[in-house]
Amino acid sequence: EKGGYDHFMLKEIYEQPRAILDTYRGRLLADQGLIRMAGIDEHLEKFLNANRIIIVACGTSWHAGLVAEYIFEDLARIPVEVEYASEFRYRNPVITDKDVLIAISQSGETADTLAAIKMAKEKGAFVFGVCNVVGSSIARETHAGAYTHAGPEIGVASTKAFTTQITVLTLMALKLAKEKGVFSQSKFHEFLTELETIPAKVEKALESNALIEVIANVYKDSTNCLYLGRGYNFPVALEGALKLKEISYIHAEGYPAAEMKHGPIALIDEQMPVFVIATKKGHYEKVVSNIQEIKSRKGKIIAIVTEGDTQVRELADHVVEVPETLESLTPLLTTIPLQLLSYHIAVMRGCNVDQPRNLAKSVTVE
Ligand code: F6R
Repeated sequence: EKGGYDHFMLKEIYEQPRAILDTYRGRLLADQGLIRMAGIDEHLEKFLNANRIIIVACGTSWHAGLVAEYIFEDLARIPVEVEYASEFRYRNPVITDKDVLIAISQSGETADTLAAIKMAKEKGAFVFGVCNVVGSSIARETHAGAYTHAGPEIGVASTKAFTTQITVLTLMALKLAKEKGVFSQSKFHEFLTELETIPAKVEKALESNALIEVIANVYKDSTNCLYLGRGYNFPVALEGALKLKEISYIHAEGYPAAEMKHGPIALIDEQMPVFVIATKKGHYEKVVSNIQEIKSRKGKIIAIVTEGDTQVRELADHVVEVPETLESLTPLLTTIPLQLLSYHIAVMRGCNVDQPRNLAKSVTVE
């Protein structure tokens, strides 16, 4: 049932090219120049007239929500707030019937996310679900939604759910950008054709597996790690750190790279591995200066870079390449090496990768 892989997590990491394809299949119609999503088509006015979009989720799904914030604001020019479901529901938030709430949940059963939905509905918001499990409680409780079609995710650490959530949310943002008229047909088309190349590019990113195993072996005994990114890749840094924490039990933190100087840089010494997402576009030069700041304090740099990069290669202790793509699609690629890295470190440390201690696949308690 693990299809020849040692763990479900590894199988699910490798399923991502297929899962992403399954997510946009039948929705992304590049030759017709359109995106078809029934859940949006049927409620288009709600989205177009919304004052803002509020995204609620927990854990990895919350990280997908953060990526979506960048995508919706950048592409569709719709204001977005992203909230932990557990905080949102208890802080008496201001919600009106002009708000659209998007709930993201792999399992569709997360108690806090479900409770946030019920509250938003009572206050008149339109609620849209992005779930993986068909017929789940959240899928049933929302007014409309779009499934991720990632297939069953068994490993407790979420992998393909994350990349397929980002895929669905990207389709939504592109569709709304087009409907709002903020996107020209040619820009829209450029995105559609680039999205279609993502499964092959994820496949390419997976080819770094052997190199990542070597890197994992160097850092497997670390007690602390930092993950840095900016812009679209800031949430990827958070997600990289969460993956390492939950399956290898190494303390890790994700930060926006520019926040280093406001505190965390004090942690840097020769014992501290720092994983930096430094792909081209997206504030590249600024990330390079952040790398220099870490280097000069003897931190170890493991950088995720764009294919062919030379500048970061000169500074970093290790580099892992991912193919080039549009800036807003980079999280779909930069996430892959970080998933593999956590996986290999956890295996080397003898951890139970698919069922980490203290964690459950769906958190149905508050
Ligand atoms: C991390 C992880 C958890 C879940 C979180 C939300 O790998 O699995 O952080 O992402 O419990 O779960 P869902 O998406 O099912 O609502």
